[in-house]
Amino acid sequence: MNSVKASGKPRLGVNIDHVATLRNARGGLHPDPVDAARVVEKSGADGITAHLREDRRHIRDRDITRLSEEIQLPLNFEMAATREMLEIALEVSPHACCLVPEKREEVTTEGGLDVASQILQLKDYISTLSQAGIRVSLFIDPEALQVKAAAEVKAPVVELHTGAYCEAVFSEGFESTASKREFERLRTSADLAAGLGLECHAGHGLNFDTAKAVAGIVPFVEFNIGHFLIGQSVFDGLPSVVQKMHVALEEGRHIVLAGGGS
Ligand code: PXP
Repeated sequence: MNSVKASGKPRLGVNIDHVATLRNARGGLHPDPVDAARVVEKSGADGITAHLREDRRHIRDRDITRLSEEIQLPLNFEMAATREMLEIALEVSPHACCLVPEKREEVTTEGGLDVASQILQLKDYISTLSQAGIRVSLFIDPEALQVKAAAEVKAPVVELHTGAYCEAVFSEGFESTASKREFERLRTSADLAAGLGLECHAGHGLNFDTAKAVAGIVPFVEFNIGHFLIGQSVFDGLPSVVQKMHVALEEGRHIVLAGGGS
């Protein structure tokens, strides 16, 4: 199994689902998401994320197998907490599994997992993955109820959904009341999670500017970013956007550690 690169810097996981979306649009083999992962790896990213959805709309089973065999970076396997996905995860043995809610009709993962309402089922599910040596992360909304539930089901990691914050910034700007409120929700939830001994990740909807801002929340050690990076690579190339995102994350973290941020 691949191991996580030891580093005090914020880690960047690149979600390559949308390379598969583009490939599938023509029904062929190009562009190959595993080739994209190879470029991302050479460009200094810290991990690869791929979501095998029930409907296989982008990533396919063979992509997950190839990613685990051909790519050295840790694989963060995003999946719904179903029996089918559990069997695949145990077979592939990725570095991590990120459990997400999944609805067929959604365009992307729209909300966090409701951990609080399925404590018993998730406890068993997570225990099976953990016993197989797979690190489990729960993708949740930044709410105290869900953070505490994640600790209760013994997940070692939470990924806080940054979508509402990014949406507020996109529609109303950084200085709006809504953006400040969403940022505060992320900060208090990340602090709570860290206080409960959970490792904290952030993801969804991030671009260079919002990632830089969220990197100012020190408990976040990993950022999983897809749509913006793949979209922006059309203009700048994948190596360049991966490197620029690293710079944005490090600048955001540095501003706060140097005492200049919120
Ligand atoms: N983290 C999780 C759990 C996700 O479901 C997604 C979207 O697939 C991402 C991160 C990446 O979000 P985006 O593609 O908006 O950067």
